[in-house]
Amino acid sequence: MGMRQVLVTGCSSGIGLAVAVRLAKDELKRFKVVATMRDVEKRAALEAAAGETLGRSLEIHKLDVCCEDSIRECENSLPDRHLDILVSNAGMGMIGPLECQSLTSIQNLFNTNFFGLVRLVKEVLPDMKRRRSGHIVVMSSVMGVQELLFNDVYAASKFAVEGLCKSLAVQAMNFNIKMSLVEPGPVLTEFERKVYEEAKNMDLSETDDETARIFRELYLPYSEKVFSSLGQSPEEVAEQTLQLIVSKDPPFRHQTNHLYTPMTSMKHADPTGHLPLDAFYKIIFQHDRVFNVSLGIMRFLQRRMRKPKV
Ligand SMILES: NC(=O)c1ccc[n+]([C@@H]2O[C@H](COP(=O)([O-])OP(=O)(O)OC[C@H]3O[C@@H](n4cnc5c(N)ncnc54)[C@H](OP(=O)(O)O)[C@@H]3O)[C@@H](O)[C@H]2O)c1
Repeated sequence: MGMRQVLVTGCSSGIGLAVAVRLAKDELKRFKVVATMRDVEKRAALEAAAGETLGRSLEIHKLDVCCEDSIRECENSLPDRHLDILVSNAGMGMIGPLECQSLTSIQNLFNTNFFGLVRLVKEVLPDMKRRRSGHIVVMSSVMGVQELLFNDVYAASKFAVEGLCKSLAVQAMNFNIKMSLVEPGPVLTEFERKVYEEAKNMDLSETDDETARIFRELYLPYSEKVFSSLGQSPEEVAEQTLQLIVSKDPPFRHQTNHLYTPMTSMKHADPTGHLPLDAFYKIIFQHDRVFNVSLGIMRFLQRRMRKPKV
């Protein structure tokens, strides 16, 4: 079997960069990677990480998921427009009280996280259908399964992504096309830095004092603790993405951080929706000490899981 052509979006940093490099460095040389970014001036980090694979199993192309022409141009530049695997990764975050987000910034986020995926799929799906083969891998989030306080817009964009993919997956099966959603929990990337920086400078004057206080004094410290305790590296997510891609029967959804499974499974345990709502309310507003102790235990478990087995 020849090398499989993979296109990854959003490779200037974080998970996209790590996935592109991991696939390009595959020991069995199974992939030819088209690592894309909207601004190729930002290629230095990827070039450094790609090392010797640059120009061999990894090429850098320009692609802006918010621009149909840019996606088409990139796809047209591939020999026969042939693509075996699409990794739709480009995305952005947003936290804060809904009243403080402008409609324009909410639309921008959807334009990237949801419509970016729509544009990509519209471009690659017809070719994959004709060839009756392909795999579409989408970087979703645990927040596409279980929403979280002050992440309203981001979670909504990932729910939209999940809804689109779940619906498309059935049709895709008929054409032998696989679809997979990768659902990371917190990952230590630029994403985290950008959302916290924005949150700290956010104008909270459009919301009431109580909400502003909850966001600043409860949510932000809580969220930062979750990231520092449970955050995975982009390389861990990339390794799991590689394993998903090469598996004989790739799962439709894959959560990269097992410590999150109890959180997301609450949703399915109670169809009325009360269980996750009550649990999150109590964790954040009533039992923050219990939560801090649990985080400590989870951090310990995470470290144990990471220790190499002898
Ligand atoms: N980090 C987390 O905690 C986490 C958790 C779950 C899911 N995710 C998801 O993982 C994906 C990657 O995030 P990350 O953590 O790696 O964040 P990141 O380091 O900020 O990377 C995001 C990437 O998306 C790119 N991008 C943004 N808008 C784009 C556009 N219009 N066209 C093309 N590329 C665009 C960025 O390019 P620029 O450098 O040009 O902005 C950057 O390369 C996202 O879909 C995110 O929702 C992240």
